[in-house]
Amino acid sequence: MFARRTDQERQWSKIIIFVTDIYGIAIPNSKLLADHIAKANYPVIVPDLFAGDPVPVSVSEGSPVFNMTEWRLRHPIDAIDAIVASTIAYVQSELGGKRIGAVGYCLGGKHVPRFMASKGIDVGFIAHPSNLTTDEILAIGGPISLATAQFDGSLTQSLRRAAVDTLESMNATFQASLYSGANHGFGVRANVSVPQEKYAKAAAYAQAVQWFDAWL
Ligand SMILES: *[C@@H]1O[C@H](CO)[C@@H](O)[C@H](O)[C@H]1NC(C)=O
Ligand SMILES: *[C@@H]1O[C@H](CO)[C@@H](O)[C@H](O)[C@H]1NC(C)=O
Ligand SMILES: *[C@@H]1O[C@H](CO)[C@@H](O)[C@H](O)[C@H]1NC(C)=O
Ligand SMILES: *[C@@H]1O[C@H](CO)[C@@H](O)[C@H](O)[C@H]1NC(C)=O
Repeated sequence: MFARRTDQERQWSKIIIFVTDIYGIAIPNSKLLADHIAKANYPVIVPDLFAGDPVPVSVSEGSPVFNMTEWRLRHPIDAIDAIVASTIAYVQSELGGKRIGAVGYCLGGKHVPRFMASKGIDVGFIAHPSNLTTDEILAIGGPISLATAQFDGSLTQSLRRAAVDTLESMNATFQASLYSGANHGFGVRANVSVPQEKYAKAAAYAQAVQWFDAWL
């Protein structure tokens, strides 16, 4: 998927890759968010990380029939990395991208940092990353902005605090925002009936755009 604001060719050298959560490009939320980022004047590329096989959104509503273990085996970390790498190559060679930013949500929040060690992504924004390891944080080689939720079974309170400590100890150029009342996934799939979640989603969007405006 590709979206950009018309007649803004001057921005083409700066391109943003949108690295989705496990629901991939199938859910409207991600497409709408990509369009919204494009409205901030950045072309946005959204790769299909799962070759047409995302986790069905019904799983988030507690569907017991889906085998997540099996799905993860079908989409190992290396396979997702390969798609991110080919997207970076496409942006560089076909679109002429000179500076590449990336947003990553949940699962995507693990893969963006993995490419910030001189592997093509210059500036990153990640929201409620899943399974982000200390080694992956230590390898980050550019400005990174982090949007985190108070209630997150993946990036728990202790992991979140450790992540910030690690970034600080690295002297990284970073921002870490913690949104109270927000749950894992809020950056894409906020429950907008809950004022804290609605605010957190809007603020995380603004956080991302401001970050790219400053550092990309
Ligand atoms: C889920 O998939 C894994 C890996 O194929 C398998 O070992 C496990 O038995 C499955 N679980 C269920 C409940 O079917
Ligand atoms: C979490 O990340 C580690 C290191 O990248 C990897 O070995 C492990 O398989 C991942 N687990 C999940 C559930 O993705
Ligand atoms: C971080 O910056 C401080 C103060 O300039 C310096 O003492 C320290 O060695 C730096 N740490 C790293 C890992 O670069
Ligand atoms: C969203 O929040 C409202 C208010 O708390 C709640 O009634 C509703 O069930 C929530 N929707 C989802 C999909 O969780």
